[in-house]
Amino acid sequence: MTDEWRDPSTTAELRGELFGVHIPELQLSVADYRDGLAAAKLGAGERYLELGSGHGRGLLVAASEFGAHATGVEYLEDAIERSERAAAKAEVSDRVDVVRDDLRRIDPTAFDVVHMHLGPAFHDVLAGRMERLLAQHARVVAAGWKVPGWLPDADAAEQWGGGYVYRPADPRMQASWGELGQTDELDWIELHVHADLDAIEVRVDSAPAGAIALDRVRAARGTTVLVQRPASGELAVWARCRAGRFTQRGPAWRA
Ligand SMILES: C[S@@+](CC[C@H](N)C(=O)[O-])C[C@H]1O[C@@H](n2cnc3c(N)ncnc32)[C@H](O)[C@@H]1O
Repeated sequence: MTDEWRDPSTTAELRGELFGVHIPELQLSVADYRDGLAAAKLGAGERYLELGSGHGRGLLVAASEFGAHATGVEYLEDAIERSERAAAKAEVSDRVDVVRDDLRRIDPTAFDVVHMHLGPAFHDVLAGRMERLLAQHARVVAAGWKVPGWLPDADAAEQWGGGYVYRPADPRMQASWGELGQTDELDWIELHVHADLDAIEVRVDSAPAGAIALDRVRAARGTTVLVQRPASGELAVWARCRAGRFTQRGPAWRA
Protein backbone atom coordinates (compact mmCIF):
# COMPACT_ATOMS: atom_id res chain seq x y z
CA MET A 1 0.00 0.00 0.00
CA THR A 2 1.16 3.49 -0.72
CA ASP A 3 1.87 5.92 2.09
CA GLU A 4 -0.86 8.18 0.83
CA TRP A 5 -3.40 5.56 1.87
CA ARG A 6 -1.89 4.99 5.26
CA ASP A 7 -2.42 8.60 6.23
CA PRO A 8 -6.00 9.16 7.36
CA SER A 9 -5.66 12.91 6.93
CA THR A 10 -5.13 12.52 3.17
CA THR A 11 -8.74 12.98 2.19
CA ALA A 12 -10.63 15.14 -0.23
CA GLU A 13 -14.05 16.39 0.79
CA LEU A 14 -16.90 13.95 0.28
CA ARG A 15 -20.25 15.64 -0.08
CA GLY A 16 -22.65 15.17 2.80
CA GLU A 17 -25.76 14.60 0.70
CA LEU A 18 -26.55 12.40 -2.31
CA PHE A 19 -30.01 11.69 -3.70
CA GLY A 20 -31.45 13.80 -0.88
CA VAL A 21 -30.05 11.52 1.84
CA HIS A 22 -27.65 13.00 4.34
CA ILE A 23 -24.49 10.95 4.88
CA PRO A 24 -21.96 12.03 7.49
CA GLU A 25 -18.70 13.28 6.02
CA LEU A 26 -16.58 10.78 7.83
CA GLN A 27 -13.83 8.52 6.59
CA LEU A 28 -12.23 5.53 8.18
CA SER A 29 -8.51 5.16 8.61
CA VAL A 30 -6.53 2.18 7.35
CA ALA A 31 -6.39 0.93 10.95
CA ASP A 32 -10.20 1.18 11.27
CA TYR A 33 -10.64 -0.92 8.15
CA ARG A 34 -8.00 -3.42 9.15
CA ASP A 35 -9.59 -3.99 12.56
CA GLY A 36 -13.14 -4.20 11.20
CA LEU A 37 -12.22 -6.64 8.44
CA ALA A 38 -10.20 -8.78 10.84
CA ALA A 39 -13.21 -8.90 13.21
CA ALA A 40 -15.35 -10.02 10.23
CA LYS A 41 -12.69 -12.66 9.38
CA LEU A 42 -12.39 -11.57 5.76
CA GLY A 43 -10.44 -14.34 4.07
CA ALA A 44 -8.15 -14.54 1.04
CA GLY A 45 -10.16 -15.08 -2.12
CA GLU A 46 -13.41 -13.92 -0.54
CA ARG A 47 -15.55 -11.28 -2.21
CA TYR A 48 -15.71 -7.93 -0.40
CA LEU A 49 -18.32 -5.29 -1.18
CA GLU A 50 -18.10 -1.76 0.17
CA LEU A 51 -21.25 0.35 -0.07
CA GLY A 52 -20.13 3.97 -0.42
CA SER A 53 -16.44 3.17 -0.89
CA GLY A 54 -15.35 6.83 -0.89
CA HIS A 55 -11.72 7.20 -1.91
CA GLY A 56 -11.16 3.46 -1.83
CA ARG A 57 -9.06 2.99 1.26
CA GLY A 58 -11.16 0.00 2.37
CA LEU A 59 -10.88 -1.61 -1.06
CA LEU A 60 -7.11 -1.39 -0.89
CA VAL A 61 -6.94 -2.84 2.60
CA ALA A 62 -9.27 -5.70 1.61
CA ALA A 63 -7.32 -6.50 -1.56
CA SER A 64 -3.73 -5.94 -0.49
CA GLU A 65 -3.79 -6.98 3.17
CA PHE A 66 -6.53 -9.64 3.18
CA GLY A 67 -6.18 -10.98 -0.37
CA ALA A 68 -9.89 -10.42 -1.10
CA HIS A 69 -11.57 -9.45 -4.38
CA ALA A 70 -12.89 -5.97 -3.60
CA THR A 71 -15.82 -4.19 -5.21
CA GLY A 72 -16.73 -0.64 -4.26
CA VAL A 73 -19.97 1.15 -5.03
CA GLU A 74 -19.64 4.90 -5.11
CA TYR A 75 -21.41 7.75 -6.84
CA LEU A 76 -18.81 10.52 -6.85
CA GLU A 77 -16.65 10.36 -9.94
CA ASP A 78 -13.61 12.02 -8.41
CA ALA A 79 -13.65 9.51 -5.55
CA ILE A 80 -13.89 6.62 -8.02
CA GLU A 81 -10.99 7.93 -10.08
CA ARG A 82 -8.94 8.31 -6.99
CA SER A 83 -9.72 4.75 -5.89
CA GLU A 84 -8.67 3.40 -9.27
CA ARG A 85 -5.42 5.35 -9.26
CA ALA A 86 -4.56 4.13 -5.77
CA ALA A 87 -5.36 0.52 -6.71
CA ALA A 88 -3.06 0.78 -9.74
CA LYS A 89 -0.28 2.27 -7.64
CA ALA A 90 -0.63 -0.51 -5.07
CA GLU A 91 -0.66 -3.07 -7.94
CA VAL A 92 -3.98 -4.58 -6.93
CA SER A 93 -6.08 -3.34 -9.87
CA ASP A 94 -6.84 -6.94 -10.83
CA ARG A 95 -8.61 -7.38 -7.49
CA VAL A 96 -10.32 -3.97 -7.16
CA ASP A 97 -13.40 -2.77 -9.05
CA VAL A 98 -15.41 0.35 -8.44
CA VAL A 99 -18.94 0.58 -9.78
CA ARG A 100 -20.59 3.94 -10.24
CA ASP A 101 -24.14 3.45 -9.00
CA ASP A 102 -26.64 4.27 -6.30
CA LEU A 103 -25.71 1.90 -3.51
CA ARG A 104 -29.42 1.28 -2.79
CA ARG A 105 -29.69 -0.61 -6.09
CA ILE A 106 -26.84 -3.03 -5.59
CA ASP A 107 -27.45 -6.76 -5.38
CA PRO A 108 -25.23 -8.10 -2.55
CA THR A 109 -26.01 -11.79 -3.25
CA ALA A 110 -22.56 -12.88 -4.39
CA PHE A 111 -20.53 -11.23 -1.63
CA ASP A 112 -19.00 -12.76 1.48
CA VAL A 113 -18.36 -9.54 3.43
CA VAL A 114 -20.26 -6.28 2.98
CA HIS A 115 -18.89 -3.11 4.54
CA MET A 116 -20.87 0.06 5.18
CA HIS A 117 -20.04 3.29 6.90
CA LEU A 118 -23.08 5.29 5.99
CA GLY A 119 -24.81 6.48 9.10
CA PRO A 120 -28.29 5.32 10.01
CA ALA A 121 -30.13 6.81 7.01
CA PHE A 122 -29.63 3.76 4.77
CA HIS A 123 -29.81 0.95 7.29
CA ASP A 124 -33.53 0.28 6.95
CA VAL A 125 -33.38 0.14 3.17
CA LEU A 126 -30.37 -2.14 3.15
CA ALA A 127 -31.14 -4.44 6.07
CA GLY A 128 -34.15 -6.24 4.56
CA ARG A 129 -32.33 -6.82 1.30
CA MET A 130 -29.32 -8.32 3.03
CA GLU A 131 -31.49 -10.64 5.13
CA ARG A 132 -33.12 -11.88 1.92
CA LEU A 133 -30.16 -12.08 -0.40
CA LEU A 134 -26.91 -12.75 1.42
CA ALA A 135 -25.55 -16.26 1.79
CA GLN A 136 -25.82 -17.82 5.20
CA HIS A 137 -22.10 -17.41 5.94
CA ALA A 138 -21.94 -13.74 4.85
CA ARG A 139 -20.90 -11.00 7.25
CA VAL A 140 -21.84 -7.34 7.29
CA VAL A 141 -19.49 -4.79 8.86
CA ALA A 142 -21.37 -1.69 9.97
CA ALA A 143 -18.72 0.83 10.98
CA GLY A 144 -19.81 3.39 13.53
CA TRP A 145 -23.54 2.70 13.71
CA LYS A 146 -25.64 -0.21 14.87
CA VAL A 147 -28.22 -1.64 12.47
CA PRO A 148 -31.46 -1.44 14.47
CA GLY A 149 -32.86 -4.86 15.35
CA TRP A 150 -29.92 -6.95 14.15
CA LEU A 151 -27.97 -9.07 16.62
CA PRO A 152 -24.22 -8.36 16.50
CA ASP A 153 -21.69 -11.19 16.44
CA ALA A 154 -20.50 -11.48 20.04
CA ASP A 155 -16.95 -12.69 19.26
CA ALA A 156 -16.38 -9.78 16.88
CA ALA A 157 -17.69 -7.35 19.50
CA GLU A 158 -15.00 -8.49 21.93
CA GLN A 159 -12.32 -7.95 19.32
CA TRP A 160 -13.39 -4.63 17.79
CA GLY A 161 -15.11 -1.54 19.24
CA GLY A 162 -15.32 0.58 16.07
CA GLY A 163 -18.59 -0.88 14.81
CA TYR A 164 -20.58 -4.08 14.55
CA VAL A 165 -20.24 -7.34 12.65
CA TYR A 166 -23.48 -9.09 11.68
CA ARG A 167 -24.51 -12.36 10.03
CA PRO A 168 -27.98 -11.31 8.90
CA ALA A 169 -28.79 -14.41 6.84
CA ASP A 170 -27.63 -16.89 9.46
CA PRO A 171 -30.74 -18.47 11.02
CA ARG A 172 -29.06 -18.58 14.42
CA MET A 173 -28.79 -14.80 14.40
CA GLN A 174 -32.36 -14.11 13.30
CA ALA A 175 -34.02 -14.56 16.67
CA SER A 176 -32.89 -15.00 20.26
CA TRP A 177 -34.54 -15.89 23.52
CA GLY A 178 -34.95 -13.15 26.12
CA GLU A 179 -36.51 -12.76 29.56
CA LEU A 180 -38.92 -15.18 31.21
CA GLY A 181 -42.28 -13.86 32.38
CA GLN A 182 -45.42 -15.03 34.06
CA THR A 183 -49.08 -14.12 34.42
CA ASP A 184 -51.77 -16.02 36.38
CA GLU A 185 -52.60 -18.18 33.39
CA LEU A 186 -49.40 -18.32 31.43
CA ASP A 187 -45.63 -18.71 31.61
CA TRP A 188 -43.91 -17.12 28.65
CA ILE A 189 -40.51 -16.34 27.25
CA GLU A 190 -39.58 -13.40 25.06
CA LEU A 191 -38.42 -14.02 21.52
CA HIS A 192 -36.39 -11.12 20.14
CA VAL A 193 -36.74 -10.99 16.38
CA HIS A 194 -33.70 -9.76 14.42
CA ALA A 195 -34.88 -10.29 10.82
CA ASP A 196 -38.24 -9.99 9.10
CA LEU A 197 -39.80 -13.43 9.68
CA ASP A 198 -42.90 -15.10 8.19
CA ALA A 199 -44.84 -18.20 9.12
CA ILE A 200 -43.46 -18.45 12.62
CA GLU A 201 -44.10 -21.81 14.20
CA VAL A 202 -43.15 -23.00 17.67
CA ARG A 203 -42.16 -26.60 18.25
CA VAL A 204 -41.59 -28.42 21.51
CA ASP A 205 -39.25 -31.38 21.16
CA SER A 206 -39.63 -31.04 17.38
CA ALA A 207 -43.44 -31.45 17.47
CA PRO A 208 -45.67 -28.50 16.64
CA ALA A 209 -46.76 -26.93 19.93
CA GLY A 210 -50.49 -26.60 20.53
CA ALA A 211 -51.50 -23.38 22.19
CA ILE A 212 -48.94 -20.65 21.83
CA ALA A 213 -48.99 -17.09 22.92
CA LEU A 214 -47.64 -15.82 19.65
CA ASP A 215 -50.20 -13.30 18.54
CA ARG A 216 -49.01 -13.32 14.96
CA VAL A 217 -47.38 -15.51 12.35
CA ARG A 218 -45.20 -12.76 11.04
CA ALA A 219 -42.79 -10.54 12.93
CA ALA A 220 -40.67 -7.62 11.87
CA ARG A 221 -37.01 -7.07 12.63
CA GLY A 222 -36.61 -5.32 15.98
CA THR A 223 -39.82 -6.62 17.56
CA THR A 224 -40.32 -8.93 20.53
CA VAL A 225 -43.03 -11.59 20.68
CA LEU A 226 -44.08 -13.74 23.61
CA VAL A 227 -43.98 -17.52 23.33
CA GLN A 228 -45.69 -19.86 25.75
CA ARG A 229 -43.20 -21.77 27.86
CA PRO A 230 -43.69 -25.54 27.98
CA ALA A 231 -43.57 -27.33 31.33
CA SER A 232 -40.79 -29.50 29.93
CA GLY A 233 -38.93 -30.16 26.70
CA GLU A 234 -36.99 -28.16 24.19
CA LEU A 235 -38.61 -25.13 22.68
CA ALA A 236 -37.56 -24.08 19.22
CA VAL A 237 -38.86 -21.54 16.78
CA TRP A 238 -39.09 -22.19 13.07
CA ALA A 239 -39.86 -19.50 10.58
CA ARG A 240 -39.32 -18.37 7.05
CA CYS A 241 -37.41 -15.26 6.31
CA ARG A 242 -38.29 -13.51 3.07
CA ALA A 243 -35.66 -15.48 1.19
CA GLY A 244 -37.94 -18.48 1.57
CA ARG A 245 -35.58 -20.49 3.74
CA PHE A 246 -37.26 -22.65 6.33
CA THR A 247 -34.93 -23.29 9.17
CA GLN A 248 -34.74 -23.44 12.92
CA ARG A 249 -34.32 -19.96 14.29
CA GLY A 250 -32.17 -18.99 17.20
CA PRO A 251 -30.86 -21.25 19.89
CA ALA A 252 -33.31 -23.74 21.35
CA TRP A 253 -34.55 -23.14 24.89
CA ARG A 254 -34.94 -25.99 27.35
CA ALA A 255 -37.53 -25.95 30.16
C1 LIG B 1 -19.44 8.38 5.21
S1 LIG B 1 -18.70 8.23 3.59
C2 LIG B 1 -17.74 6.78 3.88
C3 LIG B 1 -16.60 6.61 2.90
C4 LIG B 1 -15.74 5.39 3.17
N1 LIG B 1 -16.53 4.15 3.13
C5 LIG B 1 -15.07 5.52 4.52
O1 LIG B 1 -15.60 5.01 5.49
O2 LIG B 1 -14.01 6.13 4.62
C6 LIG B 1 -20.06 7.65 2.60
C7 LIG B 1 -19.76 7.45 1.12
O3 LIG B 1 -20.94 6.97 0.48
C8 LIG B 1 -21.11 7.64 -0.77
N2 LIG B 1 -22.55 7.62 -1.06
C9 LIG B 1 -23.53 8.22 -0.35
N3 LIG B 1 -24.73 7.95 -0.86
C10 LIG B 1 -24.50 7.15 -1.94
C11 LIG B 1 -25.37 6.51 -2.87
N4 LIG B 1 -26.69 6.64 -2.79
N5 LIG B 1 -24.83 5.74 -3.82
C12 LIG B 1 -23.47 5.59 -3.91
N6 LIG B 1 -22.60 6.17 -3.06
C13 LIG B 1 -23.12 6.93 -2.07
C14 LIG B 1 -20.55 9.04 -0.52
O4 LIG B 1 -20.18 9.65 -1.73
C15 LIG B 1 -19.37 8.72 0.38
O5 LIG B 1 -18.21 8.46 -0.37
